[in-house]
Amino acid sequence: MQQRRQKLLNRFMSSQAAIEKPIDIAIGRVEDAKLLAIIHQEAFPSGWSIAQMQESLASPHNYVVRHGDVGFVLFQLVGDECEIITIAVLPKFQGKGIAREMLIEVIGICTAMQVKKVFLEVSTKNTAAIHLYEKFTFTEYNRRNKYYADGSDAILLQLML
Ligand SMILES: CC(C)(COP(=O)(O)OP(=O)(O)OC[C@H]1O[C@@H](n2cnc3c(N)ncnc32)[C@H](O)[C@@H]1OP(=O)(O)O)[C@@H](O)C(=O)NCCC(=O)NCCS
Repeated sequence: MQQRRQKLLNRFMSSQAAIEKPIDIAIGRVEDAKLLAIIHQEAFPSGWSIAQMQESLASPHNYVVRHGDVGFVLFQLVGDECEIITIAVLPKFQGKGIAREMLIEVIGICTAMQVKKVFLEVSTKNTAAIHLYEKFTFTEYNRRNKYYADGSDAILLQLML
C-alpha cells in the first residue's frame, strides 16, 4: 500500500504544470500578513483578517510556501508531523496547477525535515480541495460531524511519508 502510494505521488509530482511565478519559501513572515490575508479573503467566504494572519505567522512552528502574490500554503511543523493549516489561491488563478506546485514544495520540505505524517481537515463540501488532496494520495482517518458553520462535516486527511 505504502509503495503504491509512493508511486502515485512520484507520478503526480513529475507531471507538474508549467508555472510562471516563482515560489517563495519563508518561515512565517509577519510582514506578509496583509498580502496573505487579501489572498485568503478572496479565496474563502470568510477569510482571515490581517490580525488573524499576523497571529498565525508569529508562531515559530508555522511556515509559508507562497506562490508570488497569488497563493500560499500555511503549515505547521511540530515533531515529525506537519499540519496544513490553510491553502489558498486567488480565484482568478485557480485551476492552473498552483496549489499542486505549492503542495509539492511543502512535501519536499517535510521530507527534508523527516516529517512522517502530513494532515489537515477539509469540508465535505469542498470538492476542489478534496480532489487536490486525493491527487496527493491523502486518505481519510477521521470525520467530525457538522463541524463547520454551514453544517458540513470535516474530513480529516493524512499522508504518511
Ligand atoms: C483548493 C485550491 C487551493 C486549489 O488550488 P488550485 O491552484 O486551483 O489547484 P490546482 O490547479 O493546483 O489543481 C490541482 C488538482 O486539484 C483538483 N482541483 C482543483 N480545482 C478543482 C475543481 N474546481 N474541481 C475539481 N478538482 C479540482 C484537481 O484534482 C487538480 O488536478 P488536475 O488539474 O490534474 O485535475 C483552490 O481552489 C482554493 O484556493 N480554494 C479556496 C480555498 C480552499 O478551499 N482551500 C482549501 C481548504 S481545505
